[in-house]
Amino acid sequence: MTEQRTKILVTGGAGYIGSHAVVELYQAGFQPIIADDFSNSQQSALAGVREILGVETPFYELDVADEAALRRVFEAEKDLQGVIHFAASKAVGESVAKPLHYYRNNLGSLLSLLTVMGSFQVNNLVFSSSCTVYGVPDALPVTEATPTKKANSPYGNTKQICEDILTDVVHAPGGTLRTILLRYFNPIGAHESAKIGELPLGVPQNLVPFVTQTAAGIREQLTIYGDTYDTPDGTNIRDYIHVVDLAKGHVVAVQRLLAGESDNVETFNLGTGRGNSVLEVVQTFEKASGQKLNYRIGEPRPGDVPAIYADVTKATEVLGFTTETSLEDSLASAWKWQQALGK
Ligand code: UD1
Repeated sequence: MTEQRTKILVTGGAGYIGSHAVVELYQAGFQPIIADDFSNSQQSALAGVREILGVETPFYELDVADEAALRRVFEAEKDLQGVIHFAASKAVGESVAKPLHYYRNNLGSLLSLLTVMGSFQVNNLVFSSSCTVYGVPDALPVTEATPTKKANSPYGNTKQICEDILTDVVHAPGGTLRTILLRYFNPIGAHESAKIGELPLGVPQNLVPFVTQTAAGIREQLTIYGDTYDTPDGTNIRDYIHVVDLAKGHVVAVQRLLAGESDNVETFNLGTGRGNSVLEVVQTFEKASGQKLNYRIGEPRPGDVPAIYADVTKATEVLGFTTETSLEDSLASAWKWQQALGK
């Protein structure tokens, strides 16, 4: 069975987006191979993937920045056809406190991966980027042609630098790498089975896990970071995309690379094309869950962009990418997952 499937290495495959991508890849006929060091993920995600798929997914516990360990994976899985590189640190605030860790981890893992991919002539890479590269955009929605801005955190800077590294490697004379850079907007929600979902370590920094933990009684109160922005209700606007829709975007990106249809470097926004305010998220969550949420309005969070959402025309036209899940259904899935987790 395994031999007939095209093998795709998924770094960070035990993580939030990675685990959902592993499920979608397998269900699309690929054989995902997971590499993860559990630095921001848990073994239970692998169990959840196994329960959903009914099969064991090959797994290697390693830090992708450990080139020797990564090389052993490529040796063991001889015929890898491509890689989706999720493995990276992603908390904006933490990156300000520990910049060196972020540069070492996020750049180190990409450099190691590219070195090993080069030695084994594995030439197809899908890279996890972020809408953070657009900074505070001059116009909305943002297209892939919207100029990038100086990053406002070391985390954001690592995404920009990684995009630049990939572009340079692709364009090097004799280079064989082809890459698709996927700029994610705000992934939320969980698999409909509630067997995998987001597993924040400690106090969640992101909105939706904080919301679901507050509704579950784990956190006392949500603080909405400011209501005096220049937006219709004064709170920030983001483009919240269901994680399974996002995961499916990776499958079509891999398919495009393997079919040889892509240019050497291509960039796609993955969002819904819809902007929703923080208050809308709170109200929609209350409707989806039937729970009243305890919240207050607090001070703006430093570094927050007032409003950003995606123009997804390019992903729709070129990748055939569409999103299927409404904000309400996405939040309902997040709540179902929170309930499955318990306290
Ligand atoms: C941020 C990053 C993004 C990164 C993502 C991953 C920026 C501009 N964006 O997204 O690149 O990939 O984190 O972690 O750096 N909010 C509250 N109360 C809370 C938590 C959040 O009001 O307790 C608000 C925020 O102010 C924001 C919205 O909810 O308006 C979403 O916040 P969050 O989930 O942290 O994501 P971003 O900051 O958009």
